[in-house]
Amino acid sequence: MRKEDIVLHTKTFRGMKYRRLGKSGLWLSEVGLGLWKWGDPVYDGSRVGEHEGFQILDRALELGVTHWDTANSYNAGSGNSERMLGRYFKSRGGRARDSVVLATKVRNSVRDEHELARDFSPNESGASRKYIIRAVEDSLRRLQTGTIDLLYHHAPALLPDASWETPLDETWDALNTLVSQGKVRYLAVSNRTSAQLAVESSALAAVAVNPSRRIIGVQNAYNVLQRPRVAAQTGATLADEADFLTYLAENQIGLIPYIPLAVGLLTGRYRKGNLDNAGRLMEESWAKEFLTEDNLERVENLVVIAERKECTLAQLAIAWLLAHDVTTSVIAGVTKMAHLEDNVGAINVILTAEDMEAINM
Ligand SMILES: NC(=O)c1ccc[n+]([C@@H]2O[C@H](COP(=O)([O-])OP(=O)(O)OC[C@H]3O[C@@H](n4cnc5c(N)ncnc54)[C@H](OP(=O)(O)O)[C@@H]3O)[C@@H](O)[C@H]2O)c1
Repeated sequence: MRKEDIVLHTKTFRGMKYRRLGKSGLWLSEVGLGLWKWGDPVYDGSRVGEHEGFQILDRALELGVTHWDTANSYNAGSGNSERMLGRYFKSRGGRARDSVVLATKVRNSVRDEHELARDFSPNESGASRKYIIRAVEDSLRRLQTGTIDLLYHHAPALLPDASWETPLDETWDALNTLVSQGKVRYLAVSNRTSAQLAVESSALAAVAVNPSRRIIGVQNAYNVLQRPRVAAQTGATLADEADFLTYLAENQIGLIPYIPLAVGLLTGRYRKGNLDNAGRLMEESWAKEFLTEDNLERVENLVVIAERKECTLAQLAIAWLLAHDVTTSVIAGVTKMAHLEDNVGAINVILTAEDMEAINM
């Protein structure tokens, strides 16, 4: 075992490194799969359909990329990302399902299959016991599995005055019940501030009979170009980024960064005067937020560092996230086989203190 493995408590499987998620026994592959844009591209605005998707999932298993991240509402509330995974597990049998850490999220409304649009009652989203239990049971049906390994509450359900829409003890009792029923193995949250994490952790501790029921992870936006975003609060600064990461470390909560590649900007496909017009950044109107002069300038600097490290820009961006000890797994969204093959190489990019300083500039 290498020294760095001991410090970070890593394991390896099929060449992939694994880290434990927060204060739990759950091991996640350092490179995971973000499955937001997977579904039925003709129908729901996703980018990966079943034929190509199954091949990428087979390859992911070969490469030890076993942390797969979806949500009930991905792709316009269609539920199709979960449905595709369900069909995959059914076609590949129990071994494939067992080797995967299957993560999904509830919070938003989901349509029935092939239902193009409809209105939703107030009880079909949010954080109530009625919604959460029904949503998890629906996810299990779509995923064709008996249990969800890691369940996130996707985003806080708040009233206009920023107070919680549902009493926290009701939400966390419902989530705790799902663990007792075996429908969920571990609990996590997404898009949370440290203050929200603190009160929700206390709410769970108050209702749970078993002290091992805790919030073990948080999934927030984080990438090298948008560092303060990890704190999930308006107007956040670099000091808030540092405080948030310290809070996670002190409370043994693992970080799963989302949009780790800034939706493709951190891959070298968008350079000054040479933008990939077929990419998500252009097609999904993210350009205004991401394609700023400042970001494009920073990309040029990062490309130089990547060349020096003899890695791709995507690998550098993922390695930067993994260089933070609180990061457990990076779930870059993959829409082509080549993306997966590229991203896994990040685990071999070791960044020194000097590299980190140069990247952070
Ligand atoms: N919890 C939440 O609220 C939340 C919100 C957003 C996302 N997520 C999760 O986080 C995951 C990742 O976020 P994301 O997919 O939005 O953004 P991302 O990972 O930053 O970017 C993904 C995009 O980058 C491109 N890409 C990926 N790897 C590449 C490579 N090696 N070379 C070239 N291009 C590459 C692809 O673009 P093209 O498709 O253009 O080829 C892909 O769609 C999602 O899939 C989802 O599971 C969670």
